[in-house]
Amino acid sequence: MTATMPQAAVGASLSPAAVARIRADFPILQERPHGKPLIFLDSAASSQKPVQVIEAMDDYYRRYHANIHRGIYHISELATEAYEEARSAIARFIGSPCSAECIFVRNATEGINLVAYSWGRSNVRAGDVILLTEMEHHSNLVPWQMLAQEKGARLRFVPVTADGRLDMNRLDTLLDGARLFAFTAVSNTLGTINPVRELCLRARAAGAVSVVDACQAVPRMPVDVTQWQCDFAAFSSHKMLGPTGIGVLWGRKDLLDAMPPFLTGGGMINVVRYDRTTFADVPARFEAGTPAIAEAVGLGAAVAYLTAVGMERVARYEHELAALALEKLRGIGQVVVYGPGIEHRTGVISITVGDIHAHDLASILDREGICVRAGHHCNQPLMEKLGVPATTRASFYLYNTPDEIDALIAGLEKAKRIFKLT
Ligand code: ALA
Repeated sequence: MTATMPQAAVGASLSPAAVARIRADFPILQERPHGKPLIFLDSAASSQKPVQVIEAMDDYYRRYHANIHRGIYHISELATEAYEEARSAIARFIGSPCSAECIFVRNATEGINLVAYSWGRSNVRAGDVILLTEMEHHSNLVPWQMLAQEKGARLRFVPVTADGRLDMNRLDTLLDGARLFAFTAVSNTLGTINPVRELCLRARAAGAVSVVDACQAVPRMPVDVTQWQCDFAAFSSHKMLGPTGIGVLWGRKDLLDAMPPFLTGGGMINVVRYDRTTFADVPARFEAGTPAIAEAVGLGAAVAYLTAVGMERVARYEHELAALALEKLRGIGQVVVYGPGIEHRTGVISITVGDIHAHDLASILDREGICVRAGHHCNQPLMEKLGVPATTRASFYLYNTPDEIDALIAGLEKAKRIFKLT
């Protein structure tokens, strides 16, 4: 590896100089789509990758690629060490007391499916309640719908208030009879930061297991699963500077130990006979087949990068960008911002502009080199509740700048001119 990790910035947030140094680590920011500087405001969908992550994966393939946990030779041992070190790094990063609690999966969606299939099929019975919230994206909704249909369980939803927060008033009533409470830590559409610890503690008091969809939280704020007091949490590497194709399911060890396998085959067994099999301990029990080794190495490098920058600073900087964007958006007529005020949100901002369709808006911004997400954000029921078919979503991360927010605002003004909105 030739690139060095960034130095932890001094101060409450990230200084312009620190952001400039960070930006220099992201080769893609040199691209000029349509002849304009690339302004990437879609990190909530998938973040960009620093050279440290790209080089770590390149180094693995060039110098020590081999299958893991199998080869009795040097480069296989190196690969195994790197894979397991990535697991340990993840555990430290999210405050897990034990790296065996971190299961490598393909992404947060697979992690949630693992809980729904393994824990859910063993523990949820007819008549049980599965509690969700009205702000879940499809990954944390569809697996529970399938489980409920199969088992005859009932789904309930914590309502979302008019200002885009969870309505906590009826939480204890909704939790009554619940076996499981699955909710997002941060809304991928509204940007709302939910009170995860309180939700987990209230779930536990009601006898429900908590499943946190942490895929928008782990990339952008300090996360400590011990402090959260959750039972499961799932997140994806590709939203936190790491590669696609790998994610993490964190689970409480006693729960994981008692769970049957999800996917079966090589790597997750203990003893296999023609007619029966005993299974490996966690985490191997849940990692059937050859895993995403290079991706684990890349995720380990991403965790090292974010740790070196400092997650407190990442969170504060993103919050500053969000505050600036909200202030500037308020200055443009006909813009509706969905979600709560700045004190309860992160830098994921969904808007509509007059009656301009979200796809038209995104296309106009694209011509300015600005990447935003337009559509239902894998969140169709919430769109229905908001009464819009789609929104345009800008999401900020540690490599974005105030100048890029100005460019976004100019792009929105241009769209209004094209559509003759005043
Ligand atoms: N769930 C991802 C998003 O919010 C893909 O864009």
